[in-house]
Amino acid sequence: MKAVILAAGQGKRMKSKLAKVLHCVLDKPMLTHIIMALNNIEIGKSFVIVGHNKEQIENYLEFNCLNSLFEPITQDPPLGSGHALMQVTPQLIDYNGDLLVLNGDMPLIQPKTLVNLIATHKNNNSDLTILTANVSNPYGFGRIVRDANNNIKAIVEEKDANPPEKIINEINVGIYCFNWASIKNGLNNLQPNNVQGEYYLTDLIKWANLNHLKISAFTMTDFKEACGVNSRADLSLANRYLSDINIAKLQDEGVTIIDPASTWIGSNVKIGIDTIISPNTILFDNISIGENCLIGPNTSINGTVNIGNNCEIKASFLNNCNIGNDCKVGPFANIRFNTNLESHVKVGNFVEVKASSISDHTNVSHLSYIGDTQIGQNSNVGAGTITANYNHLTKEKFKTIIGSNVAIGSNCVLVAPVKVGDSTLLAAGSVITKEVPDGALAVARQRQANKLDYVKVKSEILES
Ligand code: UD1
Ligand code: CA
Repeated sequence: MKAVILAAGQGKRMKSKLAKVLHCVLDKPMLTHIIMALNNIEIGKSFVIVGHNKEQIENYLEFNCLNSLFEPITQDPPLGSGHALMQVTPQLIDYNGDLLVLNGDMPLIQPKTLVNLIATHKNNNSDLTILTANVSNPYGFGRIVRDANNNIKAIVEEKDANPPEKIINEINVGIYCFNWASIKNGLNNLQPNNVQGEYYLTDLIKWANLNHLKISAFTMTDFKEACGVNSRADLSLANRYLSDINIAKLQDEGVTIIDPASTWIGSNVKIGIDTIISPNTILFDNISIGENCLIGPNTSINGTVNIGNNCEIKASFLNNCNIGNDCKVGPFANIRFNTNLESHVKVGNFVEVKASSISDHTNVSHLSYIGDTQIGQNSNVGAGTITANYNHLTKEKFKTIIGSNVAIGSNCVLVAPVKVGDSTLLAAGSVITKEVPDGALAVARQRQANKLDYVKVKSEILES
């Protein structure tokens, strides 16, 4: 089995400088969604047909190391979906197997539907198998025209359909399984005799009927999966539908989602049982969350993030980090890349942590910046403490090492590179520029001077 993704169309209705298939649905471009669905079935070397904005798609494939499996083939100029498929003919001269053809703007297609389509094709020993769906609003789709015996006679495009055809609810999803040897001659017979003056891939059906080929269909049940993206409004709908599909799966697996309408969850998110996701929460990319956690409200987590069991993450941003068991984050924390919190760690309100590791039972509770820092166990970082990790003149970053059982008073500045030993005490308001040995108290601030009776004397002078 090989696959061809059609992605050369202009996507006029998107009104965009970006190739249509590179627009994101939730956390990934449409093209990536389709490639991921294909990764679940065994396919050999495949193709992407590119035309409008083809450099963007070629660069994308190359940047993501996908071009060895999905070779871009140029269609210039793009003259319709049938013409798009014709472009692979030179690549498939000796090919006799099946070919899965997918419109690049169908990002919601699920792997199991592709498996069902292929199974129908093989079980019926078909020449052409079409994926169809019954939808309440078929506007814009090609309609499936069947005869009295339920055999598919044709696919009629919206713009070419007559009134009786327009009320047909069964639509062409835009994903097909072909026996390449049977249909390749049909491609050369396509004619652009239609309202759009294009070579329609869908006209293969009429040709196949004339040539007595075997045509089958697999009708999928979830209409959401059939969502095609032609406009920005369709893109919003695709985002909503995909999130709904992902949320429904998580609910089935024992996760509470309080308000699905304000929750956005990508396809690569794993969540353990009894975890509760509160409203206005966005979970994108490769996220794994343990059991019995409380996530949200108003939380955004993305990148590669692992969160253990029994954690509370409130009103915070997390990106590319690891959070151990029993941690509390937020409200209003920003946990950035390469951060590792072990277990029972607390990172409180208005705290930013970047590229740092914080060991068990350590708290950074209020208003701090912790960057390029390592902190041991059972330590407490007082409110307003900052690690000064950046030299603006040299553009260099430096590390701060803080031991275990350390108590840092409020409003300290630790000027990196600097090391603070175990069981130490830093006086509030200190600016630490030198190593603090184990067990020491460091005071790095001016002593307080009290000018006795100052206010009283001053007032008397002013009054006289
Ligand atoms: C197409 C189908 C329609 C189906 C619908 C499902 C045709 C003629 N019609 O209509 O029956 O219901 O998809 O979403 O196929 N493309 C190229 N080169 C071209 C033209 C298009 O590669 O010259 C690609 C597009 O990038 C797109 C796909 O083919 O990924 C479909 O083209 P599009 O113009 O979106 O067709 P629809 O009108 O949506
Ligand atoms: Ca389309």
